Amino acid sequence: MAILELKHLSYDYITKAGKVHALKNATASFETGKVYAIVGRSGSGKSTLMSLMAGLDVPKDGDILYHGENLRDIDRDKFRREHIGMIFQSYYLLPQLTAVENVELSLELAKYKGDKRKRAEEMLTLVGIKKEQFKKRSTQFSGGEQQRIAVARAIATDPEIILADEPTGNLDNENSMNVVSILVDLAHKYNKCVIVITHASEVAEKADVVFKMDDGILIIQ
Ligand SMILES: Nc1ncnc2c1ncn2[C@@H]1O[C@H](COP(=O)(O)OP(=O)(O)OP(=O)(O)O)[C@@H](O)[C@H]1O
Ligand SMILES: [Mg+2]
Repeated sequence: MAILELKHLSYDYITKAGKVHALKNATASFETGKVYAIVGRSGSGKSTLMSLMAGLDVPKDGDILYHGENLRDIDRDKFRREHIGMIFQSYYLLPQLTAVENVELSLELAKYKGDKRKRAEEMLTLVGIKKEQFKKRSTQFSGGEQQRIAVARAIATDPEIILADEPTGNLDNENSMNVVSILVDLAHKYNKCVIVITHASEVAEKADVVFKMDDGILIIQ
């Protein structure tokens, strides 16, 4: 069964200049264990779609089902806290905290029950950050390393769905491929549903399924 289903979603922004139809009848289905790429030109509605999938907002029309349950009927903040991990183009690590503290903080916010330090260290190891670096401030890492720490933070609470909006947008090719291979492992080895918005064809090539967003309409490639 699909973990996430989008049914005829539409979304408008109301601006001074009038309505912007950001999503028009977007329909798609996502399963665990797969990497999905969403490609499409700037302004086509990709980030809007992601914010709806994360439960940050509700569609104007249409429904999003999580394991068959309508997001309109459940506590969306709880849904996001427990089941969604998010990664962005800018890493958004807290500069005053160390690598391990950044990951621990997300566990703290999610009210993680176990040993937070241990879990944070395991996640950093999983994304290839060395033990000697755990206590370095996040600003002292390279962009590629910071994004890997951001991935560790996103997966620390063991969410079933990873949403990444242009995760390689600030990275060079080598670092991009490194982050992409972690995302692919999360799907293929750890059975996560990974959904990546990307402009990079070399990232989309690694996906199991590619959707194209065309002016608010989602088309499977
Ligand atoms: N907060 C907002 N208020 C008004 N209009 C918005 C807002 N956010 C996005 N839009 C508009 O909605 C449409 C879709 O935007 P969205 O950010 O989803 O596109 P995108 O595909 O993520 O683009 P990009 O590749 O540049 O990130 C665009 O026309 C955009 O101008
Ligand atoms: Mg966007």
